[in-house]
Amino acid sequence: MPQPILATLIPGDGIGPEIVDAAITVLDALGSPFAWDRQVAGLAGVTAAGDPLPTEALESIRRTRLALKGPLETPSGGGYRSSNVRLREEFKLYANLRPVRTMIPGGRFDDIDLVIVRENLEGLYIGHEHYIPIDDDPHAVAMATGVNTRKGSARLLEYAFEHAVATGRKKVTIVHKANIMKALTGIFLEAGQELYERKYKGRFELDSVIIDACAMKLVINPWQFDMLVTTNLFGDILSDLGAGLIGGLGLAPGANIGADAAIFEAVHGSAPDIAGKGIANPTALLLAAAMMLEHCRLGEQAGRLRRAIADTLNVDKVRTGDLGGSASTVAYTQALVRRLA
Ligand code: NAI
Repeated sequence: MPQPILATLIPGDGIGPEIVDAAITVLDALGSPFAWDRQVAGLAGVTAAGDPLPTEALESIRRTRLALKGPLETPSGGGYRSSNVRLREEFKLYANLRPVRTMIPGGRFDDIDLVIVRENLEGLYIGHEHYIPIDDDPHAVAMATGVNTRKGSARLLEYAFEHAVATGRKKVTIVHKANIMKALTGIFLEAGQELYERKYKGRFELDSVIIDACAMKLVINPWQFDMLVTTNLFGDILSDLGAGLIGGLGLAPGANIGADAAIFEAVHGSAPDIAGKGIANPTALLLAAAMMLEHCRLGEQAGRLRRAIADTLNVDKVRTGDLGGSASTVAYTQALVRRLA
């Protein structure tokens, strides 16, 4: 029996605990290699420890360097800064890998297989913002600072290009807005073109597209893309667009990869509108768990997990409500467990 792999488990907020429970049940049925260190963060962290990112959670990830995480709620407007953004900064999780792959054939768009690689630490998304008060209005002017560095851009682009080569991608498209934000996103485009010329020319095709045109092209003909590489905020938006191409957020996983750790999660958030109703779809988190198994060089288990998901969805036709089915989270989980028996 190989040594268990120590990993941090953060159930998260909203539907987080429901989908994390489902994922653990399914992973156990698979013969999970992971020994979990359970921690809280987000709203659950505020409630339990008065902190959206408690020190214990950070120390756990520092030890394990590996985590599976449910969504963490971030208040809009005021309130605390996103624990997700802080986690990414703390562990230098500079690459966000988000595969967009058809799981259920016959949808509006079929045979989708593209990957979005999002820069995860820089850009406008970092939320360095402030208000300027004028007269009696404390929020008269809002300002945000976006920061992209050549080094940060090149590090992410190198990760993306290496991933493209390792997984046999034919074309990589840099998504930017360098016609308007000439410096902020121009530096990313420039770093990509320079790196390609220097090290990757001939190993795949490189092109580029402006973010607005990219959004339109993805909806008209997503098959023209193979891998999209982009800055933080654009990647955030395109990830949800990508999820929409394959049937919704319930099917879109993601990995935050960095120098000091790797954190696996669903693309979606805490879905407060359906929390506690027992109807959330745990598939995105399970697909993230499959990415985590692959990260630990357990490709065979990752493959079995993906096959069980595909067979449950397409052969048994057991699906949650977001996919047009009527199964509860628990009924869907049990169907997955039967497939793995
Ligand atoms: P959301 O992704 O939570 O929900 C958007 C819509 O998709 C909702 O109608 C929801 O019911 C549905 N949905 C999402 N996941 C689903 C699932 N697994 N099964 C079935 N339906 C699902 O986005 P929203 O409502 O904008 O954000 C809610 C909270 O989540 C916010 O506080 C936000 O900051 C946080 N968030 C956290 C993320 C993370 O921890 N990585 C990522 C995105 C948002």
